[in-house]
Amino acid sequence: MTTTLTSIQSLRDILKPHRANKRIALVPTMGNLHDGHLSLVKLAKQHADIVVVSIFVNPTQFGEGEDLDSYPRTLEADTQKLASIDTNYIFAPSVDDMYPVLPPPTQVLAGDISTQLCGKSRPTHFDGVGLVVSKLFNIVAPDVAVFGQKDYQQLAIIRQIARDLSYDIDIVSAPIVRADDGLALSSRNQYLTATERSIAPTLHQEVTRLAEKLAQGVHINNASETDLSLLQSLIDESITQINEAGFKVDYLEVRQQNLQDITNTKQDTALVILTAAWLGKARLLDNQQVQVAV
Ligand code: PAF
Repeated sequence: MTTTLTSIQSLRDILKPHRANKRIALVPTMGNLHDGHLSLVKLAKQHADIVVVSIFVNPTQFGEGEDLDSYPRTLEADTQKLASIDTNYIFAPSVDDMYPVLPPPTQVLAGDISTQLCGKSRPTHFDGVGLVVSKLFNIVAPDVAVFGQKDYQQLAIIRQIARDLSYDIDIVSAPIVRADDGLALSSRNQYLTATERSIAPTLHQEVTRLAEKLAQGVHINNASETDLSLLQSLIDESITQINEAGFKVDYLEVRQQNLQDITNTKQDTALVILTAAWLGKARLLDNQQVQVAV
């Protein structure tokens, strides 16, 4: 049976008796659930006895002019989907319960990592994510929390917060779930028109093409001191291709998998390609890890 709780206190009360002998997993979401979210819940079930899915469109992670008001709120449909895979609890609190004072004077800042990549065009986004995820960790006090790898930077920030604030929570990551044509599933895909939807897989295709080139290592590891500029020219070529397909690339970067800059392409071999690009009203994210042959 799936039970929905809409207040912090009611969730705490219902979880209390389980704490002594059951492992509790948290899957934080903003609702409008798709198969990607459901894969997180299924993974959470493998790690715990009780799964709590939070559904909360968190106002503090939306910047001015972003889609807070239009973000799809579909609690009824979400509840049906979660019930169909035997989720134990849905936590769907009100904004007032989560934020007695809005904007809240208390902050959870993750530092440098929040200002890069997505943080450049969404400067306050990760401050809001850090705060709400910390609150959810305190409210649910789970043993394990599951996040998707599509939000690669978010995952890195949450791992850092869990480490620095000593949360006794295993952070588990789940692979990106894609449509048959390769587009990473996202609630924001529904902002795409039919034409845009047909263009959208280009993002994944180009990232994959770049990953294949990096994996071959030919351009990078056979190169001399110019190898970093060769890497940049490959990146620039991909950006051009994506833009020519109709996107407006926000960023496309290749980093070490811990998100540090690449310093030496002969030594840094576990890499990740990260991109965000606008297609009409939708800002789409994608990423791909790649092991470069030495
Ligand atoms: O990834 C999301 O859906 C959100 O950023 C999260 C982690 C649920 C926090 O609101």
